[in-house]
Amino acid sequence: MDVLEAIKTRRSIRRYKTTLVDDKVLEQVPGAARRSPSWANTQCWRFIVVCNDTLKTELASTLSTNNPSTNAIEIVPIVIVACAEVRKAGFYHGGPSTTLGDWFMFDIGLAMENTALAAHVSGLGGCAYWQF
Ligand SMILES: Cc1cc2nc3c(=O)[nH]c(=O)nc-3n(C[C@H](O)[C@H](O)[C@H](O)COP(=O)(O)O)c2cc1C
Repeated sequence: MDVLEAIKTRRSIRRYKTTLVDDKVLEQVPGAARRSPSWANTQCWRFIVVCNDTLKTELASTLSTNNPSTNAIEIVPIVIVACAEVRKAGFYHGGPSTTLGDWFMFDIGLAMENTALAAHVSGLGGCAYWQF
């Protein structure tokens, strides 16, 4: 599948199979995210691949019960948690370089889209949700 086809056909998925994900595929999805553009190449992202059921339940509890992804998080084989190291994107020598302050949300958003597309072309479904 080429990139335009991947962009056109990717959809948010909220109903999942419980089939385990191949390790090779598991490496390639965050691997694509790590190649995303970032502010001055600061790469503020940190990815945590969660397979543990207790942790998945804890993550699900951070969403409201009426969120369509809440139940899905407990069923999916893996959850990729994208975290940001703050005061990197948009910062030079410890100080903000623009009036907008921290650019981590911009960079994490780009990385999340690469994650979504890499998952899609690897035959995996996925859905983004955000928690602060
Ligand atoms: C920043 C952001 C937050 C989102 N949060 C949630 C969420 O909490 N729960 C959910 O089920 N979907 C969430 N989504 C998925 C959107 O609802 C979905 O992308 C949108 O409805 C368009 O559908 P599509 O992704 O299939 O094109 C989120 C998407 C983004 C970009």
